[in-house]
Amino acid sequence: MQKNIAIVLMGVAGVGKTTIGLALSKASGLPFFDGDDYHADANRDKMAAGIALSDEDRTAWLLELQAVIEKALVKGNCILACSALKKAHRAILENNSKSLHFVYLEGNKNLIEQRLEGRKGHYFPASLLASQLETLEPPENAFTISITQSPTAIVEMIMKKLLNQNTSKAAIGLMGLGVMGKALTQNFLRNGITVSVYNRELKGAEESVAKNFVESLAQLKDTQAFSDYSSFVHSLQSPKKIFLMIEAGEATEKVLDELALLLEKGDVLVDLGNTYYKETETRIHNFAKKGIHFIGAGISGGEQGALNGASIMPSGNKEAYELVAPYLNSIAAKDKHNQACSTYIGEGGSGHFVKMVHNGIEYAQMQLLAEVYGLARAAGKNPTEIANMLSSWKADKLDSFLLNTTISILNTKEGSDWLIDKIHDASQSKGTGTWATNTLTNAAIPATLIANALFARQISSYKNLRVQLEKNYPRPKNTLTINEASLKNAYYFTKMIIHFQGFWLLEEFSRNNHWSLNLPEIARIWTKGCIIQSDFMETLVPILKLNAHIILEASITEQIKQTAPAATEIVITALENKIATPIMSDAIQFFNAISTAYSTANVIQAQRDFFGAHTFLRIGATATEHYAWES
Ligand code: 6PG
Repeated sequence: MQKNIAIVLMGVAGVGKTTIGLALSKASGLPFFDGDDYHADANRDKMAAGIALSDEDRTAWLLELQAVIEKALVKGNCILACSALKKAHRAILENNSKSLHFVYLEGNKNLIEQRLEGRKGHYFPASLLASQLETLEPPENAFTISITQSPTAIVEMIMKKLLNQNTSKAAIGLMGLGVMGKALTQNFLRNGITVSVYNRELKGAEESVAKNFVESLAQLKDTQAFSDYSSFVHSLQSPKKIFLMIEAGEATEKVLDELALLLEKGDVLVDLGNTYYKETETRIHNFAKKGIHFIGAGISGGEQGALNGASIMPSGNKEAYELVAPYLNSIAAKDKHNQACSTYIGEGGSGHFVKMVHNGIEYAQMQLLAEVYGLARAAGKNPTEIANMLSSWKADKLDSFLLNTTISILNTKEGSDWLIDKIHDASQSKGTGTWATNTLTNAAIPATLIANALFARQISSYKNLRVQLEKNYPRPKNTLTINEASLKNAYYFTKMIIHFQGFWLLEEFSRNNHWSLNLPEIARIWTKGCIIQSDFMETLVPILKLNAHIILEASITEQIKQTAPAATEIVITALENKIATPIMSDAIQFFNAISTAYSTANVIQAQRDFFGAHTFLRIGATATEHYAWES
């Protein structure tokens, strides 16, 4: 839809400007201003006395109407009913702007007269019609509609012609046309779901995004595009279902504030963004007060997933979920049994929580692959050789989306150069890894690999310091000798520990929050569509039915035993050669700690008691005690 236009319903008194204006406002959601309401008393008295207004009488009135619409146009589209009989009257309203679209309601004198006579309680007498018709200068460029048609038909014609809207409303709305939002829209449409799309207007940054998007693809020819909230919301079938794909934070806040004013009881909002789960819970709570449902749905898969099938993690009120489930299922990836990789996760913000843990696992696996790359590079392999090595691992059930992503990256060349060698070595992050790390430390769940993957990114961002320190502490220049089979096993070992920690985190939170998370089902929806889909995830589905702690299950125990020595060997090599491998090192350290029956925490407890009288528990005792250490 064209941005910020005023539809001016014009014509002589009695053509139905107010009736059509009100109906159009109801159908489009646009504000309606009735010119009759803005006449000065003196004008009304004159007309009521059967005296026609002069141009002079009309000027102040038209100037006021011009100011009214100018103000309204700042916010969006609007509708005005105003006789605007003469070209000069219309020029005052236009005030040189191109934003006014005149709709000329045309009718013959007899019909209008009949209508005026049937009109009760209006100050305008039928006797003045003749003077109005005399004054009228029919417009040349207006959209002319005969008033012999029904108001509904007239409204439909205006909607179609000027608001570019079919009156048939869209099944769902999608807000936020970044890469993901655009891809999701196409996915919905491919699945036969009609969508209205919205994108904000941001001068110099996001201009006509929605309009340009729908014009860019034939598939979108019937899709309505909006940049004002009201028309967008009114273009949707009720109960309205709006999917948000907007950057977390202020942008989302603003959109939600606007939507809160426009949505009605029973409408459903689905936040597909990466949102901190506690924020989702607050929103669920706040919207529930208005009877509006809020679903927090984590979505994974990047642009390709959004376009061709993603993994989706929705949570919130179950009834509300049912209203949007068919839409989510339709855009979800399909697992090996052709089931949608979308499932109801649970109450509250559990969906966004699960997505946050997904991203924690994602961070750890990305870092793991970066470490494998670093070691192989130090062993003298070039990127293509490393890609070939990783490709060969696929046959050993180590195939995964991230492995393939890395292979493609390492095979990418610009002329004779590998692109990877031209990429600045300081990584960034958008927040999910930080939320995950804060969450796990607050809850005292030592999913250390997730935290360490985040710290590795943070360390990388201190580029200048690293450069300076390497000068002070030179690195060995020798080429490593690395056993490829050991590297593969170290990779597999670390991958198992990453997944152990991820599902452990889910299990602990599920219990603490009474979410009843279904871990095998979560693993199932992570087998396709998402960033952490892998062969290994497939093997976890049946294992998680037996035990949330996967490394306690026989088949995994066996593989941990087989691969741990190689992981240790690789980490020793890395340490000896000053190669940072925080994830691999931590995997082995964590595993050693978590599989040690009697730890050294007795010393910690004694120290705490020594200097702070924090007490300790004596083996075999049931109550703690303080010991008088130096007395
Ligand atoms: C996904 C991804 C996606 C996004 C990451 C990027 O599952 O599709 O996780 O959500 O790529 O959030 O996060 P960082 O910028 O923090 O790496």
